[in-house]
Amino acid sequence: MTQTVPPQDVLLEVDDLKVHFPIKRGIVVDRTVGHVFAVDGVDLAIRRGETYGLVGESGCGKSTLGRAILRLTELTDGKVVFDGTDVAGLKGEELRKARRRMQMVFQDPMSSLDPRQSVESILTEGMKAHGLAKDKEATAKRLRELLAAVGLPESSLRKYPHEFSGGQRQRIGIARALAVEPDLIVADEPVSALDVSVQAQVVNLLEDLQEKLGLTYLVIAHDLAVVRHISDRIGVMYLGSLVEEADADTLYENPLHPYTRALLSAIPVPDPTVEDSREQILLAGDLPSPARPPSGCRFHTRCPWKQQSLCDTDRPQLREIGTGHRVACHYAEDIRDGRIKPHEVKAELVEAGELNPDVGGLPDVGSAAEIL
Ligand SMILES: Nc1ncnc2c1ncn2[C@@H]1O[C@H](COP(=O)(O)OP(=O)(O)O)[C@@H](O)[C@H]1O
Ligand code: SF4
Ligand SMILES: [Mg+2]
Repeated sequence: MTQTVPPQDVLLEVDDLKVHFPIKRGIVVDRTVGHVFAVDGVDLAIRRGETYGLVGESGCGKSTLGRAILRLTELTDGKVVFDGTDVAGLKGEELRKARRRMQMVFQDPMSSLDPRQSVESILTEGMKAHGLAKDKEATAKRLRELLAAVGLPESSLRKYPHEFSGGQRQRIGIARALAVEPDLIVADEPVSALDVSVQAQVVNLLEDLQEKLGLTYLVIAHDLAVVRHISDRIGVMYLGSLVEEADADTLYENPLHPYTRALLSAIPVPDPTVEDSREQILLAGDLPSPARPPSGCRFHTRCPWKQQSLCDTDRPQLREIGTGHRVACHYAEDIRDGRIKPHEVKAELVEAGELNPDVGGLPDVGSAAEIL
């Protein structure tokens, strides 16, 4: 693996992680007729105390990767090493202990909070499961601290999720994650379901909490604009694997992978003169089905820089091109130095094939019980 982070600084290391979901058919006997290659070989390392932003189109495998790191989804292959321990092999009590240290904040706070539970019950559930709520007085104090930390009044304890706004519910979701004193928080599209006006407040809250508590974050988003300001480093995912990774400024100022360039060109720039003159790269066609990923470079069906050789035959590995800047493209140097130019791509029709199960849009539901 070509990791670029010194080993002693690493809190989480993901090594050639794969999650393939079987596609079953058959009335009497279930036959596996194919696989959805949701995550198909991801290598990354997250430093203690940093925020790693993970971006990519809907369906590229971000949530599956986040869930696999927390072992909420079984891994098909690969390693997830958390603070020196491979959690892929953990079971029972050991797994439960590791899970306390890694918590998830979900996209839709309404569906991830049980509507029948009061806030008090939501917050104490995890604490009880991990033996952190033994003494009544200490628990009450802890609950007050948690609410203060996320900016909610104490009276919230007796209320139910439907009595709060979307932004407040996400604060409850964050307090629930904090209740068990985790080291790593995987925040899966934490603001995508919120009004634009409250998105910044929740992002600021996450940043404040990180500073106060020394948390490490993996923040998932489908929109590069959301992760730009909070991320130290960013990984861009396409059809199950990373195509580019760099520190946030480098990625924005000097994107090398054609997919990252296209994603960035879709973000409007506030300065109108820059906005009018800058290059817009429109991606042709839809994201191919992860059940039938294209051969070679998975981006070749949509890549404006695609070349005659290698692109549709050899899968490019993520390799370091500048310091801490990894790119999975055979022609990254030629693109960087302007030796090859983009061309028009005709959208290929994506067949609604048999191996394209209608499993998209699975709810990002995670009951608290599931993550204890
Ligand atoms: N439990 C599952 N069973 C089968 N396919 C799944 C399951 N969960 C996710 N998928 C599929 O895996 C792919 C990646 O999904 P997901 O990780 O949710 O992507 P993202 O979060 O980037 O939108 C999608 O094609 C999705 O339909
Ligand atoms: S390897 Fe080829 S198809 Fe893939 S991103 Fe690079 S130029 Fe495009
Ligand atoms: Mg998702």
